[in-house]
Amino acid sequence: MTQMKMEFDGHSLITPSAIADELVAAKEERFDEHLAIGKGELALLLELARQQFAKGENPTKVIDRVTMSLHEIRHRLQPRVWQELVPFVQEHAVSEYFLQDPLTRWSWDKPRGYSGDARLLDFIYRHDSVTEDVAGASDLGKALFEYTSTAPSSLANWDRRDILAGYVDEVAARTGAGTEVLSVAAGHLREAEYSKAFREKQLKRWVALDQDPISVGTIARDYQGTSVEAIDGSVRAILTGRQHPGTFDLVYASGLYDYLVDKVAIKLTQRCLDMLKPNGTFLFANYSYPILVDGYIETFMNWQLLLRSEADMWKIIHACVDKDEYETGVFFGKNRNIVYGFIKKRS
Ligand SMILES: C[S@@+](CC[C@H](N)C(=O)[O-])C[C@H]1O[C@@H](n2cnc3c(N)ncnc32)[C@H](O)[C@@H]1O
Repeated sequence: MTQMKMEFDGHSLITPSAIADELVAAKEERFDEHLAIGKGELALLLELARQQFAKGENPTKVIDRVTMSLHEIRHRLQPRVWQELVPFVQEHAVSEYFLQDPLTRWSWDKPRGYSGDARLLDFIYRHDSVTEDVAGASDLGKALFEYTSTAPSSLANWDRRDILAGYVDEVAARTGAGTEVLSVAAGHLREAEYSKAFREKQLKRWVALDQDPISVGTIARDYQGTSVEAIDGSVRAILTGRQHPGTFDLVYASGLYDYLVDKVAIKLTQRCLDMLKPNGTFLFANYSYPILVDGYIETFMNWQLLLRSEADMWKIIHACVDKDEYETGVFFGKNRNIVYGFIKKRS
């Protein structure tokens, strides 16, 4: 995939292979030797887990040990060695057990054709809409779901939902009845259920833009007759200027920058700033390095993310704004698994 295509094709950015192609690391010294050592270590770890599952040992202990070991091994190995070993992990017989977890299964199957869709978020949120799927899982699957849906990364998503709703409420309290909000890559807009301003009908409009017609349809159905306007639209359409949803007091993107390389992230940030009214705020979120489930999600969930540090967030902000015109900041959520950047127009 060429850089031009990556830059403007907002859809293809979210497949694991597209991200892997973009991030392919160079081979370092003694690559073959490190590859053989890594393979041996992973083979032992996975085979032990398979035997423990087969014997009916405590699934929480098994998945926790595998998750922590994959994290540790991923960080210790040369990046290219880890990348080469991902398919080896995915093809191991133990995956049959992990895939009984409905959350892992949904991520692996990718029924909507791409990673990190809004229904995956519903599994993570333990939303009512997934109750039946969880009830239909095996006992082992249910136990694994308890672990994956309450892992620190999942709790960071719950926290993110609260932070987004809090921003909407804060902007509405400051701006009053004319408040207009835009969510870019809105998914199912579950944060709306947590916003007091939304519940109390204090918003003029909350535009929810997403490239997935099923998600747009779900929002339109769930929020019919409210201030929410669901629109079919992509990052690509925003970048190329084909989409003009208006101007807003708050624009935010959550669960999106994790798939955007810096160049695209900077361009999108600039476009989002163009859509701000005076005193408007732009907020963006990204998974960050303390995340412990990185090895598990890249392998058994086949879900590739671009993690960002505090410095990476500042890099995007500094590429977009002049200090005098904007107030800026970077902060972490509760368990530091997600980092946030904000840019507020001074007038
Ligand atoms: C993980 S969900 C995030 C949902 C919600 N914002 C949240 O934080 O819970 C990611 C969403 O991003 C959308 N998305 C991914 N790439 C996109 C793009 N290029 N343009 C528009 N939407 C995109 C997907 O359709 C999906 O609904």
